[in-house]
Amino acid sequence: MSELQTLAKDPLPYGLGALLIDHIGIAVHNLEESSSSYRALGLTAEGEDETIISQQVKVRAFRISESLLELLEPTSSQSPIASFLEKKGAGLHHIALRVADISAEVSPIKRFGARFINPEPRPGRSGSQVVFLHPKWGNGVLIELVEHH
Ligand code: CO
Repeated sequence: MSELQTLAKDPLPYGLGALLIDHIGIAVHNLEESSSSYRALGLTAEGEDETIISQQVKVRAFRISESLLELLEPTSSQSPIASFLEKKGAGLHHIALRVADISAEVSPIKRFGARFINPEPRPGRSGSQVVFLHPKWGNGVLIELVEHH
């Protein structure tokens, strides 16, 4: 059994296994236009739209049980979401896993060769702290780790 398999069986040093999908990020051109599909599914936007300066996006969140669907509209052409929309069009952008202690999570994941877009946590929605793992490392999936206070 590899060290990684051992850790997966024993979530204590790793932590991720005990937690949950915090949100799924969806890149959109326009929050208002793209909300209608989610409203048709019976979902309601939670709270006010929030602008996240560090990521240059405006976010609208729809709650599904413990998780959120977050619609992400770029606030500038420099936004990572703007370049995603240009390259791939609207659609699934990232999944976010909730962790208890983001600073403690970064170094064990690094030991297994993880590549980070930003290993230093930065502000996310609702006062959270987030890091992003490189999509090449995540098998084509952009994975965000998020800690709520
Ligand atoms: Co996110």
